[in-house]
Amino acid sequence: MSKGKLIVFEGIDGCGKTTQAKKLLAHFQAKGVQATLYREPGATQVGEEIRNILLAKKDFQGGLGAHAEFLLFAAARAELARLILKPQLEQGTTVILDRFALSSIVYQGFARGVDIEFIKMVNHTVTAGTHPDKIFLLDIDPKIGMSRFEGSSDRIEQKGLDFFEKVRQGYLKVANSGSCVISLIDGASGIEEVFEQVLSNLP
Ligand code: TYD
Repeated sequence: MSKGKLIVFEGIDGCGKTTQAKKLLAHFQAKGVQATLYREPGATQVGEEIRNILLAKKDFQGGLGAHAEFLLFAAARAELARLILKPQLEQGTTVILDRFALSSIVYQGFARGVDIEFIKMVNHTVTAGTHPDKIFLLDIDPKIGMSRFEGSSDRIEQKGLDFFEKVRQGYLKVANSGSCVISLIDGASGIEEVFEQVLSNLP
């Protein structure tokens, strides 16, 4: 059996990637393609527990240091790779992810200053050979992204415009560094326009 494809959606908070990930899952299901969708952080039992810490509504006393934050994301990622990605991809399932390793490079690396080589090394180790076949990067002005936040903001959404500008620039830097896996899409266009671009760039 051939290996399944790993398709990842990335972008700043409010870029619309969750909507696109769900549409892609429905598209595959309608075509009878075996496909699943998971979010990061989360997906496994431990991953969801870690998510509760990372996305708490109230910041911790003394905050959460950038290294601790990254290592928690990495721990959730390790469990996702071990329990879900590896077995499903080996079985031939197409796995869609709402965020993956690149989120740590831009949020904890570019925006919070954790050494990017260190992040790449840990990501490489914990994902154990599961590489995205495609990353759809939805680019959007952070002001538009932030205007789409719903309900009370989590710890990361509370970080403000400057932070999301850094995240956006980090994503664009990686996208412009020549990676052929990344498709850069204008997230400000309509849901259907974005989805057409997704469909025409499937791996
Ligand atoms: P979530 O509510 O899923 O937001 P979104 O719909 O924007 O993905 O929260 C995930 C948050 O965690 C989001 O603010 C990005 C952040 N994050 C990191 O900072 N580093 C990471 O490695 C990952 C996976 C997420």
